[in-house]
Amino acid sequence: MIDDPVLKNEWHIAARSKDLEEDGILASKVMGEDLVLWRSEGTVIAWKDLCIHRGAKLSLGKVINGCLQCPYHGWEYDKGGACVRIPAQPPERAIPGKAKTFPVHAIEKYSAIWVCVGEPATEEPVLPIFDGSDKSIFVSGHPLVAKATRVIENYLDFAHQPYIHEGYLGDPEKPEVDDYTVEKSEGGLTALGLRIWQPNPDGSGIPNYSTYDYYCFRPLQAAFTKQKVKSVLAATPVDEENTVGYLLGMSEFRDEMDEEEAERWSALIIGQDAAIVESQRPELLPLDLQEELHLACDRLAIAYRRWLKELGLTYGVA
Ligand code: FES
Ligand SMILES: [Fe+2]
Repeated sequence: MIDDPVLKNEWHIAARSKDLEEDGILASKVMGEDLVLWRSEGTVIAWKDLCIHRGAKLSLGKVINGCLQCPYHGWEYDKGGACVRIPAQPPERAIPGKAKTFPVHAIEKYSAIWVCVGEPATEEPVLPIFDGSDKSIFVSGHPLVAKATRVIENYLDFAHQPYIHEGYLGDPEKPEVDDYTVEKSEGGLTALGLRIWQPNPDGSGIPNYSTYDYYCFRPLQAAFTKQKVKSVLAATPVDEENTVGYLLGMSEFRDEMDEEEAERWSALIIGQDAAIVESQRPELLPLDLQEELHLACDRLAIAYRRWLKELGLTYGVA
């Protein structure tokens, strides 16, 4: 397990809602912890992926009669995690009280399944840019071999767009970033009105300036809004080396864009980011601001590093 005093009590996305159907089982890994997720009567249940009998992975089992059955000796666990049947022993013999699973907090929100491997710092995950909207949210998951802190900082890094995303989100002929300010509050970081030249900002095919508002709500959850687009990146630390970047998007443009198309677009853009982020050394985000060179346009990244230091993160930082 990744033993980070802050992140263990955060909500992290373990899977997309649509990937776990009724009576379905999914294996996931979050914060170095192997998890089994399953769904019964609509509700998502999350446990450590471990049977207390002989340590088999419960995610290899199946759902029968509203219980999760271990693949090894068929012990059946009910939704509350209690073992209710041990097939190898006569039914009149009592089931040991210790025959239980190891529960993990789980909640379903914003079309995703969130888990907390410790004690949740907030009752539920909150992504304010989506609240109160009736548009549906698209979620796509993208694996990266990088620390989640580097992944989030890249998402907040505005000045890379003309280079990594040339022809899509920026133009190297017009790379300037105007000065901007970053506000810090209880709700995290906010930087409003960042302007950049883009080849096709509104779908009309005409290049123009585009204005972004950036947010970082939690140490591993960042967002931006621009025109009719709302986007969140929730970076889930899988283990010390791997991250899944979950992109959650809502857009009025997407009325004409189907889900597959939206996913292809997300994979293209985050794929361009991944090539760079995976190359960054050191892998750990340096919190000592003397370590790398910072410019005025890096204000948001500087504020992010300072905030992580204040929060006391130990994972993904140096
Ligand atoms: S290991 Fe699960 S029932 Fe034996
Ligand atoms: Fe990018």
